[in-house]
Amino acid sequence: MKEELFPFIYYENGKLKIDGVDAEKLAKEFGTPLYVYSQSALEYWFREFDSAFSSVEHITCFAVKSNSNLSILKVLGNLGAGADTVSKGEIFRALNAGIDPKKIVFAGVGKRPDEIEYGLEKGILMFNVESESELYTINRVAERLGKVAPIAFRVNPEVDAKTHPYISTGLKTSKFGVTFDEAVELYRKAKELRNVEPIGIHFHIGSQITDVSAFGEATRKVAEIVRELHSIGIEIKYFDAGGGLGINYNPSEPPVPTKALADQLIPLVKKLGCTLVLEPGRRIAGNAGVLLTKVIYKKEREEKLFYIVDAGMNDLARPSLYKAYHHIVPAIKKEGELRKADVVGPICETGDVLAEDRELPLLREEEIIAILSAGAYGFTMASNYNSRPKPAEVIVKDGKAKVIRQRENLGDLISREVLF
Ligand SMILES: Cc1ncc(COP(=O)(O)O)c(C=O)c1O
Repeated sequence: MKEELFPFIYYENGKLKIDGVDAEKLAKEFGTPLYVYSQSALEYWFREFDSAFSSVEHITCFAVKSNSNLSILKVLGNLGAGADTVSKGEIFRALNAGIDPKKIVFAGVGKRPDEIEYGLEKGILMFNVESESELYTINRVAERLGKVAPIAFRVNPEVDAKTHPYISTGLKTSKFGVTFDEAVELYRKAKELRNVEPIGIHFHIGSQITDVSAFGEATRKVAEIVRELHSIGIEIKYFDAGGGLGINYNPSEPPVPTKALADQLIPLVKKLGCTLVLEPGRRIAGNAGVLLTKVIYKKEREEKLFYIVDAGMNDLARPSLYKAYHHIVPAIKKEGELRKADVVGPICETGDVLAEDRELPLLREEEIIAILSAGAYGFTMASNYNSRPKPAEVIVKDGKAKVIRQRENLGDLISREVLF
């Protein structure tokens, strides 16, 4: 009997499977904590996204910040994905995974001159410029290299994405982008410069957005700017609508179909005659990955039951950072009594909580559990806090598992340090 949690992540005869492999087996073979990705799920989510835009010219640039493992990037690159990057390191990763530089966009509020130089030398599609000062820096670096930098301005459309304030980015008060009012003037200034060429426009209003009307509102506003730019002879070829489409963190709720987002964007962008650029991250990788962890200890208090597991906020930061919800299931399905418990990590911080007051089946020590929806902003946000080596990453397809990042060891923790 099969019970699907997410595509390619399911219970079969009471055992949790990821793309055909038992979660328990994976934990035994590769140890815990362990990030496990389903290649079939990645492919599924990429196609679900990309095909919604098949009626228009478009490039789906996967947001590398959400999952930057080379093999993940390669899987997506093979399906035609480009890359949305925010650092020289992310461009380096995308290129190493074989992604075409002409499908790489580069955003970020604090691009350093050496990063701009790197992007120019590699011939990326465009720089998404986030301030007037940055425009001049790009122009200067390009002049020094004898190049012309293709640019877009990241414009804040000032719409409320109705998501967590830490991942809401399109408001007037946010540090990102340039304001709606200054955009046209900045394009005029850019047009006067010899070593930049404005070819696109960009916005990104936030992440984990499930009310797609915010995208429609943003697109309408930014389209106004494009029409004005076209009327003054500045040709905008690329309309980059950012990322941000949300996922269902609870398997019992359906995800917002990407088509709902496409319906908001396509009619407006088609009229402008632009190529659409999209930057999904979470939507592609989020529900393609899980974090397996082992219950080390059980602690009963009068008021509380704690499960202390071997994954902490250093491995998966989202719950402690945003109080984000991640569904948790045991590797072996259990019927019967549910009890409220806190699932906590080993880190010496009170905030190291993976789930609070969560109704869970009774778990025993040594049991393996899976923290779902951990494929995006999971490993990429992991740290070595408390001197804990980072977990391994494994990809699974059709019943076969491959390590795509080895577990760090104690030597890795000190390998860059100098004992004086
Ligand atoms: C500029 C930009 N594009 C795309 C993304 C990806 O967002 P998401 O993972 O929500 O699709 C982000 C995330 O913060 C971003 O800052």
